[in-house]
Formats: sequence, C-alpha cells, structure tokens
Amino acid sequence: MKELKILLIVIFFALLTYWGVEPFAHSKMHKHVEDNKFSYVDLPPLTKKGDATRGKALVMGAGACVGCHSIKAAGIPAPMDPNTAAASYGVNPPDLSNVGALMDERFLAELIKNPTKALILEHKFDGKTRVFPMPSFMGAGGDKEQEVADMVAYLKKISNKEVSPKEAYVTSCGRCHANRYGKYEQIGFVPKTKSNIKTNQDIDLLKFKEKVADYQGNLAEYMGKLPPDLSIMIRARSEDFMKTFIEDPQSQLKGTAMPRVGLTNEGYEKVMKYLEETGDPSKPARDALGIKVIGFFVIFTILALLWKKSVWRDLH
Ligand code: HEC
Ligand code: HEC
Repeated sequence: MKELKILLIVIFFALLTYWGVEPFAHSKMHKHVEDNKFSYVDLPPLTKKGDATRGKALVMGAGACVGCHSIKAAGIPAPMDPNTAAASYGVNPPDLSNVGALMDERFLAELIKNPTKALILEHKFDGKTRVFPMPSFMGAGGDKEQEVADMVAYLKKISNKEVSPKEAYVTSCGRCHANRYGKYEQIGFVPKTKSNIKTNQDIDLLKFKEKVADYQGNLAEYMGKLPPDLSIMIRARSEDFMKTFIEDPQSQLKGTAMPRVGLTNEGYEKVMKYLEETGDPSKPARDALGIKVIGFFVIFTILALLWKKSVWRDLH
C-alpha cells in the first residue's frame, strides 16, 4: 500500500512537470504566435471562377510570366540560367510547374496583382526607392479579376498533385536556401563529378562551386544577408516556430527580408518532410526502434510475471 502511494506521488509530479512547468517555461522563453492554419484570411477570396484555357494564354502572353519563369510542366525552359537571373533580379524566379498545388489560391491571386502585399514585403519595397523585381499584373484589357482567376486556374491545372517533398522544397525555398545534407545549393543539386586521377583536382565541381558563390553574392546583396542553410534547421527550431514562421515570417522576425511564400498546409508538410529526410535521416529508424523497445519491455514484463508466479507456486 505504501509503495502504491509513493508511486502515485511520483507520477503526479512527473505529469505536473511535463504538462505544467515545462510548457510554461517554454512560453516565457519563446513568444507564442497563433497560426491561421495557412488560410490567408488577410487576403480576399477569389470571386470569379477561372478558365484554365484562357489562363494559359495569359500566362504565356499578356501576363508575361514566362518572360522570367520556366514552366517545365508545359515545356517552357527558363529564359535565363540561375546566375544571370540572380544578376538581374537578385534571385532566380522559381519554376511555376507546381505552384498551383503547393500554394494557396488567394495567395497566388494576390501575388499576381500585388506581389509585395502577398509576400508581406511592403516594408522593404516601397515601389519608389526599391522596386520589387516581379511586376504587378495590370490587366490585359478585360475584367482583371477574371483574368487573374484564369491564370490561377491554369497554374492549378498543370500542377502535379503528387509533388515530391524535394520538389516542394526546390520550388518554395530553394532559390534562397541551400541544404548541404541534401546536396542542394541555390542553383541546383550538386552534380556527380570526378577528380582527375593524376592531379586529384575536380574541375567540374570547382566550376559548380564558383557559380554557387557568384549566385550567393547576388542573393546576399538582394536579401541583405545570405539566407541560412536549412540542413539541420528543424533540429534547432521547434515545430511550432517553423509553422508560424513559414506561414508569416513577420510574426516571428519583425522586419525580416524573408517573404511569406504562401504554402498550403499540405505544401508546408511536404517541405517539412524534405527537411526531416535531409536533416534528421535517422528519425524513421529511431521511431521504429521506440516501438521495438516498448515491445521488448511488454514481453519481458509478461515473462517476469509468469516466472514469479511459477516460483511462488512451488513455495506455497
Ligand atoms: C520580371 C520578371 C517576372 C515576371 C514577369 C513574373 N515574375 Fe514571378 N517572380 C519573379 C521573381 C524575381 C520572383 C522571386 C522574388 C523573390 O523571391 O524575392 C518571383 C516569384 C514568383 C513566385 C513565387 C512566390 C512564392 O511564394 O515563393 C510565383 C508563384 C510567381 N513569381 C508567379 C508569377 C506569375 C504567375 C507571373 C505572371 C503573371 C509572374 N510570376 C511574372 C519575377 C517575375
Ligand atoms: C526570397 C528568399 C527566401 C525564400 C524563398 C525563403 N526564405 Fe527562409 N530566409 C530568408 C532570409 C533572408 C532569412 C534570414 C532572415 C533574417 O534573419 O531576417 C531566412 C531565414 C529562414 C529561417 C531561419 C529563421 C530564424 O529563426 O533565424 C528558416 C527556418 C527559413 N528561412 C525557412 C524557410 C523555408 C522552409 C522556406 C520555404 C518554404 C523559406 N525559408 C523560403 C529568405 C528566404
């Protein structure tokens, strides 16, 4: 009976620390920010139903999107290589093949009409002393709201619904953030090259590195600093921080140059999956191990009980 009481007291204090004290201390150290479940309620909903066929004509024509962006899903190559693009815009405009699946439609519509508002970068680009590289779509002569809805419908239609975590990362973060554990730099994946056997020099890799350094120079100039490598970021930041920061970077880092990228909840989860795969590759194995360990204890306890019973039976 005494043992039971002691056990109950221990359990009580363990739970109190776990649910009461630790979260309280945590909330004092980190500002708590409510998330909006990636719903972008500050942006107006689409009022028109889009037509993908007309949208395609606008994206390829009057919208001018393909003047800066590649759309591999539609066979449109990049108008410039990443280095030339970064020299002109500060950053390489992302491929638009999968933005329709990864990004919210309200966000995309606002981005086309007024990019700095959608990206929450009005504090950085006032349109006079600093002009954002992606222009606002002014309309192609018809009903502008309809034209925007048409372009969004087209982007959604061509998107692959099964975008891989890697592609999600490249499209939404890859132009700014390297991921060394994933062998990814802002201009692309590190190519598989070979050193010359006689000189032990890998000229192709050196050339790639030179391009990366050149790109990063322009990017750092554009952003004010070089965005950090994201290889192990998920180990350094809590889940809660990542979610609210990516939904709205300003909520956690007031004045930051990182844009809101407009991911849907699903798109966010894909990006996180990639960060987990690269930054914490042993997690699935660890999780599986946990179950094995618990299984071992359960079996061990049963065996111990059976053994105890058999020993006592003989003694009675
Ligand atoms: C003059 C070049 C230019 C044109 C034209 C242009 N863009 Fe962009 N776009 C950019 C650049 C540069 C960026 C990256 C800006 C940054 O990250 O700071 C970008 C970013 C984007 C993004 C990524 C936003 C995010 O959430 O990460 C999307 C989506 C996009 N553009 C769609 C479009 C569409 C649709 C059109 C046509 C209506 C278009 N763009 C026209 C240059 C352009
Ligand atoms: C247009 C460039 C750009 C894009 C796109 C971008 N970021 Fe960033 N990111 C930055 C910059 C710049 C910083 C540094 C912010 C600062 O210190 O103010 C940053 C910082 C971060 C940080 C560190 C925040 C901290 O606590 O210091 C994380 C995490 C992050 N980004 C995640 C992401 C993820 C995930 C994506 C894609 C979903 C993404 N970023 C897309 C530019 C970008």
